[in-house]
Amino acid sequence: MNFARQEIIDILKDDSQNNWLFELADKVRRENVGDKVHLRGLIEFSNICKCRCCYCGLRSPNKLIDRYRIEPDDIILYAKKAVEMGYKTIVLQSGEDEFYSRDVMCEIIKGIKELGCALTLSIGERSFEDYKAFKDCGADRYLIRIETTDRQLYKKMHPNMDFDNRVRCLKDLKKLGYEVGTGCLVGLPEQTLESLADDVLFFKEIDADMIGLGPFIAHPQTPLKDSANGNFILALKVMALTRILLKNINIPATTAMETLNPQGRVIALQSGANVVMPNVTLSDFSSKYEIYPDKCSLSDRGEVEKIIKSIGRSVSDDYGFRSR
Ligand code: 5AD
Repeated sequence: MNFARQEIIDILKDDSQNNWLFELADKVRRENVGDKVHLRGLIEFSNICKCRCCYCGLRSPNKLIDRYRIEPDDIILYAKKAVEMGYKTIVLQSGEDEFYSRDVMCEIIKGIKELGCALTLSIGERSFEDYKAFKDCGADRYLIRIETTDRQLYKKMHPNMDFDNRVRCLKDLKKLGYEVGTGCLVGLPEQTLESLADDVLFFKEIDADMIGLGPFIAHPQTPLKDSANGNFILALKVMALTRILLKNINIPATTAMETLNPQGRVIALQSGANVVMPNVTLSDFSSKYEIYPDKCSLSDRGEVEKIIKSIGRSVSDDYGFRSR
């Protein structure tokens, strides 16, 4: 099944066919990546960020959050704990924090790769040389959302950032042989359905291996504090369309989905998603990693497994690379 741009827009506009869309995405998910759900152990290791993204609670002008940074050795210890708990992939995520220079990151990556797991990085825009050094140390995957492909909106949302550099990052990462993840926010102020259709087509064009997306949630300590939250169903539709068009990629049921709907994660798993990313540093830091308010972090692996089994699925025990 392939949709042209106008068909995608029409589907996004019309809510009368939603059940058909979600069921089709679920079928495409089953046929292409099966019933196994991949768990990724998420370590949010620093909430310090030099960026000023208008929607994000970690933006540097936000003086009201308590900033933290986990020491490299402690990051490796958290990863070890997660691998012992059975996680096959560790995801290292942070704000754009220059403390973690190329050399510091390389040491962390080497330490984690010795544990025998797959490693995903999500630490923002870096040079080709940094990305290459991380890859040479064993990093397998990299997440960097494009956030929106609407250039004008991108510019408004990201002071001091450059859309073309973001695309450059994605292309460099692909060139270097990473599995590359990207994605977008759904429901940013002034975002159009047309631009959401372009986002999905962009994911296909760059041949993304993973797509993470969720509704925008207004954070009180950002310039968008008075904006309306994104819509859960619309975000789910964009996710379902992404599954239908990109077929065999990995798609997480994101935390933002659950934040707007208490059943959001399960609904996402039944509408195209096949990945869950429980936080493995939860009790210690996650209340401070507040990208948006009421972020619903999952941490108890047993609890996650129970939820997955309750919908007739099971937890994968392989590394969960993209199935080709
Ligand atoms: N609401 C929803 N998602 C957000 N992100 C950042 N701020 C928000 C928000 N207010 C998402 C961005 C980023 C990811 C880590 O979190 O898409 O890439």
